[in-house]
Amino acid sequence: MSEQNLYENSEYQLKEYKQRRTNGQKPVEDGAAGTSIAKKKKVQQIIFGLLVLSLLFSLLCLIIGTVKNSMIYSEMKEQQHKLMMEISQFKSNDSAIYREMKELQDKLMMEISQLKSNVSEVQRAQSILASKLPKLKMNNHFWTPCPKNWARFNQSCYYFPSSSGNWHFAKQECSMLGSHLLVINNNAEQIFIKKLSVPKMYWIGLSDSAKERHWQWEDGTEYDSTPHFWASGEPNDAFNNEDCAHLDDKGQWNDINCSTKLNWICEKNSV
Ligand code: BGC
Ligand code: CA
Repeated sequence: MSEQNLYENSEYQLKEYKQRRTNGQKPVEDGAAGTSIAKKKKVQQIIFGLLVLSLLFSLLCLIIGTVKNSMIYSEMKEQQHKLMMEISQFKSNDSAIYREMKELQDKLMMEISQLKSNVSEVQRAQSILASKLPKLKMNNHFWTPCPKNWARFNQSCYYFPSSSGNWHFAKQECSMLGSHLLVINNNAEQIFIKKLSVPKMYWIGLSDSAKERHWQWEDGTEYDSTPHFWASGEPNDAFNNEDCAHLDDKGQWNDINCSTKLNWICEKNSV
């Protein structure tokens, strides 16, 4: 059969099939045309099935997605609630801490004011003690003992060597013993020394060698700040040659030539 004949035959068969369908007659399905229609029908059924399946799959995906989303949402909601609870807890804790800190601050302020009053009390006690200290010292309580053969008076130790020499030699000797030539600071000291010195004569640590009539104590004590016990008419700088002071046989002061050989008195602080 030629191609043209085949086509015409198929057209004819299709026409007949449609005619039969319109008339309510059963189509004749035998032959090549019947097979082709059955195939088409099957393909259509398969496509329809696939469409239904894909629709069902999409629906399933949608359902799964929705369920999943709602689960996530409820989880987030729960977390939000938890967070809110934590925030409110934190807020209440925060105010508790603030209260505690305020209490601590008040307590500290009280302690500070107590400490301040304690400090002023201690200061008052200290000043009372400080005012009592000189008297205690006068009573000989705090001094270190004087070296052997040295006499004590108040805060000083005194040494009366038996050797004699000029004023500069005497000065050096005292210095070698960690002391200085006697410096008389007040009446009491003058009286004490006089009792031990009379009737012998001793060098004391007073001179105007640097400048005439400008008397200087050896330890730097200001001459004008101390009482003076010059013998009557002294210092007279006899023969313009007397620059060193000494205790005379009555314990009074006289200026004399510095190269004169005399005994001397050393003094050092006992504290
Ligand atoms: C004088 C003193 C003098 C002394 C010298 C005395 O007679 O009165 O002023 O220093 O002699 O040795
Ligand atoms: Ca003199």
